[in-house]
Amino acid sequence: MQSRYPIRLRLNGEAREFEVEAWVTLLDLLRERAGLTGTKKGCDHGQCGACTVLVGGRRINSCLTLAVMQDGQEVTTVEGLADGEQLHPLQQAFIEHDAFQCGYCTPGQLCSAVGLMNEGQARSVDQVRELMSGNICRCGAYPGIVVAVTEVMGIAAQDERRPYEPGTVPA
Ligand code: FES
Ligand code: FES
Repeated sequence: MQSRYPIRLRLNGEAREFEVEAWVTLLDLLRERAGLTGTKKGCDHGQCGACTVLVGGRRINSCLTLAVMQDGQEVTTVEGLADGEQLHPLQQAFIEHDAFQCGYCTPGQLCSAVGLMNEGQARSVDQVRELMSGNICRCGAYPGIVVAVTEVMGIAAQDERRPYEPGTVPA
């Protein structure tokens, strides 16, 4: 029985070829075979969104799809978002709005936000929150993430974070 299958991907704009076992997920292929460790493994069960990448411009949880199922597809990971030295506007906005703490969820948040923009469904802050709800942030960086994403999308949002005053306990 054949144990490995040849697949071709256009990976961050580059033609790549792999030989993979049928059970290898796209997430494991990216991290362990393609050397693209920006995409993170959180739950490995489709619950956290840390592994979100773009396939044909659509966001998917790469832990939930087998690499062989994506043969011939165009895959974009967080490493492929910038244009050379020029960060993607979402990456720049995440920096400017302090939209991360540990950064573990950030690649997934960024790819998910690009997918969200491609979908063209979100028109309000609440819709952005709802449609990004599959991307969990254990650090609770949501306020900054929402401000960054809505700013790039041209949706007005209020930054709900309050400045910390030394000697006080934030409410
Ligand atoms: S690692 Fe894929 S959804 Fe959590
Ligand atoms: S920044 Fe730490 S999990 Fe989101």
